Amino acid sequence: MELFDFSLTDAKIKHDKLAKEIRHHDSLYYAKDAPIISDAEYDKKRREIEEIEAKYPELITDDSPTQNVGAKVSEGFSKITHTVPMLSLANAFTADDIVDFQVKIMKFLGMVVPGEEIEIFAEQKIDGSSCSIRYENSVLVSAATRGDGQIGEDITTNIKTINNIPHNLPANAPEIIDIRGEVFMPTSSFEDLNKTRLEEGAQLFANPRNAAAGSLRQLDAAVTAARNLKFFGYALGETSAPIADTQLGIRETLQSWGFDVPNPIVVTKKVTELLEYYSKIMINRTDLEYDIDGIVYKVNDLKLQDRLGYVSRAPRWAIAHKFPAEQAITTLKAITIQVGRTGALTPVAELEPITVGGVVVSRATLHNEDEIERKDIRIGDKVRIERAGDVIPKITESIEHIKNSKTYEFPKYCPVCGSDAIREEDEAIRRCQGGLVCEAQAVERLKHFVSKQGFDIEGMGEKVIKQLWDSNLIKSPSDIFTLAESDKNSLTSLKNKEGWGELSVKNLYKAIDDKRDVSLERFIFALGIRQIGHATARRLASHYLSFEAIQNNLNYDELLEIEDIGPAVAKDIIYFFSEEHNKQELERLKKQLNIRDYERVQSVTSLFTGKIVVLTGTLTEMTRAEAKSKLELMGAKVSGSVSSKTDYVIAGLDAGSKLKKAQELNITVLSENDFIGII
Ligand code: IVH
Repeated sequence: MELFDFSLTDAKIKHDKLAKEIRHHDSLYYAKDAPIISDAEYDKKRREIEEIEAKYPELITDDSPTQNVGAKVSEGFSKITHTVPMLSLANAFTADDIVDFQVKIMKFLGMVVPGEEIEIFAEQKIDGSSCSIRYENSVLVSAATRGDGQIGEDITTNIKTINNIPHNLPANAPEIIDIRGEVFMPTSSFEDLNKTRLEEGAQLFANPRNAAAGSLRQLDAAVTAARNLKFFGYALGETSAPIADTQLGIRETLQSWGFDVPNPIVVTKKVTELLEYYSKIMINRTDLEYDIDGIVYKVNDLKLQDRLGYVSRAPRWAIAHKFPAEQAITTLKAITIQVGRTGALTPVAELEPITVGGVVVSRATLHNEDEIERKDIRIGDKVRIERAGDVIPKITESIEHIKNSKTYEFPKYCPVCGSDAIREEDEAIRRCQGGLVCEAQAVERLKHFVSKQGFDIEGMGEKVIKQLWDSNLIKSPSDIFTLAESDKNSLTSLKNKEGWGELSVKNLYKAIDDKRDVSLERFIFALGIRQIGHATARRLASHYLSFEAIQNNLNYDELLEIEDIGPAVAKDIIYFFSEEHNKQELERLKKQLNIRDYERVQSVTSLFTGKIVVLTGTLTEMTRAEAKSKLELMGAKVSGSVSSKTDYVIAGLDAGSKLKKAQELNITVLSENDFIGII
């Protein structure tokens, strides 16, 4: 199919535009972990640029995304065929189903004598993502997702980042053994992850299972490593020699090899005891640090398992006894809006308190404004609530509107500070734009303002900011610079109880005065404009040269011409500088400061100044985008391919052909640790 039929010039325009977009999305995905387009849309862009380059190879540059970081994305994962298929489980929902299970297997095995029931091993059903980990000669050699049960994706590098999975087995382990089990995300880690994602405007994971699956299928293993995943072993795939006679024996051997397993379990011949275990685990499941969605019963004797075999895609020797969904119906009394520390407005449902699965629920998440509209949820409605994944209760549907109810109008202004709350086109979340003045964001903003890369005011750390805020001495950044003047009593309100004395107050005032003279890039960074890190702040400064120029000439199209600034970032910058509250605060700041124009010649020199550096392999302490930005700050040019011009290669884990080439060309190779040492 001929997709691209244009001249070289047209192709170049299209190529450069795509390259810029892909770099932007790479940075959102890798560095900020906050993609704004779907994988499918991203892959489409990569396919397009690859097709252009295939047709016009002269457009391939060192910094083309096809030669760089994100290249891994289009390659996707390679496939692994399971030598023993990974099956699913038949489901049961009632006690009768379990009795049936027992009767059926006995019949199948021809065991009809009463009292001769079969021993069953019962274990929690972990709600995560199943995987198979292969050890050969006691060394972890590969790992795969379940996939379609026959063929899974190769997630070896990612699995190796999970810290409760042994990389080696004892020497007496079978020559070949597949350990199967579940990768999951502890509920507390899931909550933390979603909190961060909410603040970053990234799409939230619906539950810990999705979060685990998503984290496992990361092309950049450093992302997986940062996600705190765990593994429980519960079954075997191919084994070159048996390791036990029973399911219990498998569990005990796995434990002795260093694997974690879920607790507690029960082994019994009595269905009543199985059902007691089921009820006990179900009632107490909220105390667990991970999600479970039922109990798995397995025939304990492996010889009997063998005889029972499989029906379609599930074993005859096991069954999953699922927990009922925890739901309840109550009245939605009101919808309130919470403003997060990055200004995200989140709707919260205020409910008539009700017990759901043993827990009283009076608030639930409504996710975002689209969800309220899609589900047509109105104040006063009877709504169904569900404890999703046992974590945050959510409203699944509206059951009944009250008479004359009106659709909910999502506020267009921040309920905390009154600034505009703007929702960008490709975002699900509306954000308060009054970053400098909004109380909900203020303390975090102030901390950022005085941080190392910002104003770097000595002695003004997190604790001091909080003290000054709580005692109403500093409410916005400009208050810092008027503190000495406005605070006639020299922090007396703090002096006795908080350990402030004459000297420390004087020192603080002096430290503040020392920083009135500030470089343009530091100033921009300190403002805490969304998505504007150190590197982009510097790019803005070097483009506009003076703060006046930024204020007077800011324009969307021009912003897009600056490297690393895409449409979303450009919009954030424009909103920030046009927001009325921010404008007033900037005027106040300008009166207090001397914002130095950008100086073209940067005096920082380092080992990397003017050098060509190639990154390869997986970095464990930082993302590749982070490493690249650090190198660029130190004056390096980061290239995607190794050649005789390359000065340094920084090699992470599992570095391949680029490392080999560097060694052949006698190029200095640095480990990630060497690199960290230098920076
Ligand atoms: S035993 C089918 N034990 O649930 C092979 N499976 O919904 C024997 N699962 O595909 C599996 N916790 O991946 C077993 N304690 C546990 C489990 C468990 C979760 C998964 C398993 C299966 C899925 C079916």
